[in-house]
Amino acid sequence: MPEEVELEAWLAEQEEFEPPESFVERANVADANVYETFDEDWPDCWTGAAELLDWEERWETVLDDSTPPFYEWFTGGSLNASYNCLDRHLDDRGDEVAIEWVGEPTDETNRTYTYEELHREVNEVAAGLRDLGVEADDVVTLYMPMVPELPVAMLACARIGAPHSVVFAGFSADALATRMESAASEYLVTCDGYYRRGDPLHHKEKADKGLSRVDHDVETVVVDRLGDEYDHPMGDDEYDYDALVAEQEGAEVDPVERDAEDMLFLMYTSGTTGEPKGVKHTTAGYLSYAAWTSRAVLDVKPEDTYWCSADIGWITGHSYIVYGPLSLGTTSVMYEGTPDYPEKDRLWEIVENYGVTQLYTAPTAIRAFMKWGSRFPDRHDLSSLRLLGTVGEPINPRAWKWYYKHIGGEDCPIVDTWWQTETGGMMVTTLPAIDEMKPGSAGLPLPGLDVRVVDTKGEPVEAGRAGHLTVQKPWPGMLRTLYRNDERYVEEYWSEYSDTASDDPEDWVYFPEDGAKLDEDGYITVLGRVDDVLNVSGHRLGTMEIESAIVGVTGVAEAAVVGGHHDVKGEAVYAYVITEDNSAETEELRERIVAGVENAIGAIARPEQVIFTPELPKTRSGKIMRRLLEDIANDDELGDTSTLRNPDVVAGIQERVRTD
Ligand code: PRX
Repeated sequence: MPEEVELEAWLAEQEEFEPPESFVERANVADANVYETFDEDWPDCWTGAAELLDWEERWETVLDDSTPPFYEWFTGGSLNASYNCLDRHLDDRGDEVAIEWVGEPTDETNRTYTYEELHREVNEVAAGLRDLGVEADDVVTLYMPMVPELPVAMLACARIGAPHSVVFAGFSADALATRMESAASEYLVTCDGYYRRGDPLHHKEKADKGLSRVDHDVETVVVDRLGDEYDHPMGDDEYDYDALVAEQEGAEVDPVERDAEDMLFLMYTSGTTGEPKGVKHTTAGYLSYAAWTSRAVLDVKPEDTYWCSADIGWITGHSYIVYGPLSLGTTSVMYEGTPDYPEKDRLWEIVENYGVTQLYTAPTAIRAFMKWGSRFPDRHDLSSLRLLGTVGEPINPRAWKWYYKHIGGEDCPIVDTWWQTETGGMMVTTLPAIDEMKPGSAGLPLPGLDVRVVDTKGEPVEAGRAGHLTVQKPWPGMLRTLYRNDERYVEEYWSEYSDTASDDPEDWVYFPEDGAKLDEDGYITVLGRVDDVLNVSGHRLGTMEIESAIVGVTGVAEAAVVGGHHDVKGEAVYAYVITEDNSAETEELRERIVAGVENAIGAIARPEQVIFTPELPKTRSGKIMRRLLEDIANDDELGDTSTLRNPDVVAGIQERVRTD
């Protein structure tokens, strides 16, 4: 029977899956009372998470909720994140592997860092950064691909109390400049380049271009990844990473004692407006939460070889490649390249070669694997896998089942974890040894979390009805604010359902801007964003950011961007564009529009289709009807068009989308 048909039949058959017995027997968290215990003892239940860490000074108060929504966790305590990810493992696990790095080229000498070696290099880089002038609380920007020097630099920053701001390497020069300006960041660690599908990419050119748009002086450290392949000039305020490390050989830097609430890092993410948001995470709450969720949900144990295939440039990589796994002293795998190079079995080859025990990836990747077919994983022995995870967007039941069957061999639980940059760690998922799994539904709120699906008035919706996801109590991993913008923090996340005049925490409700549905067992199915944010291959992009990039292109008068369904990417960017002059609707302009988006944001935001139109459908009050543009992109039946000021434009736009 063809794979598709077989899967379809099975899909109809089974809707619920029990945790495999073999997994339950050895799981870190297997006691179903954990939900009740956390509820009864809230917020003190979170001391268990904090106790996964080593503290310089133990905390006095678990939660300070006196000024909502500016919550503070584990106040009075102090610690250092790099100490927790490195030093404390040295006695018992110094010779064990911390990072197993796999480069994209297959003839690469892959690099293995034991905890001892990682500790050494982190100390040297920390000393080097200090020499350059970095002090506690200075924001250091890291614009790097998946090279081991990225986690080294993150931990070096953490060691000296300098918050890092990692900018995804796929982002453009402009995006780098905006983030460095916004954070007033005077230090940059970047890289000359990296490999993508066999070709060297000259990343430094982008970094240089970005720096030329930053108004203040910046000291830059450059990692040499491409060696002789790429001969790049170095400026006066640019330092070679290897030289910096060599100069500091054997240096030891005492981990700086950080207050629980001191900033650990900043991470920029997209929102409704064009301006990216600097999400601020602090040391104790974030790290405790990353460690606790890694242990409870991903079942990380020190002896594992755990692999999260995300990019460290996103929050998933921060929490579940670097901070969570390393704080638990496990081996974390890092892969530089794409899953289809040199062949479509690259990931399975890595799983087999390294004996990977957990794999945490994204639905977009799983859909691609499914499309390529099971013959690729079938070539490899995947029996080392014990648990599978997914994150970033809703997973359709068919992809879930394919993953379960062909990667997990029907013997690994799958955790479908819903969370966000802002939440710091996982929020809704099943606990892999306790809860049954329902493909397509993320699962239950984690213990200690008060997640509810509500209607527009904030009232709980009945099972089966769609509503908005809300979080009604604080949690340790939560963002603390938007960097230097408390007002926007309150406005963006807390204004929808809270009584903002109240100082009673009960009156404050966090709104993640996702739609969701509950079933009769309390399982949550996340339906996707309800704001103007797209999720393209699990990458979060603001429609406004893309629109302003397009409007910046000469010849464009107006633009509207929406998401349309895409089999692999989940969503794809559809750009409807009005030109200044109709006769300018040319292929050349279309190319300039695509280039404009790539320059402003990066290739990840590239429009799937650019549709020229003389007009956009607007309501009588002049608002663009985005819902309608989405229906057109999806070739769905159109909703009500009677409220349009210009209903006659619709047929023409439909025609253009279909024929393009
Ligand atoms: O819409 C939700 C979706 O991704 C958004 C968060 O994106 P970002 O901050 O980039 O973080 C992604 C990685 C944590 C959410 O608002 N999302 C994330 N995980 C899931 C999801 N949607 C459905 N199911 C998930 N498991």
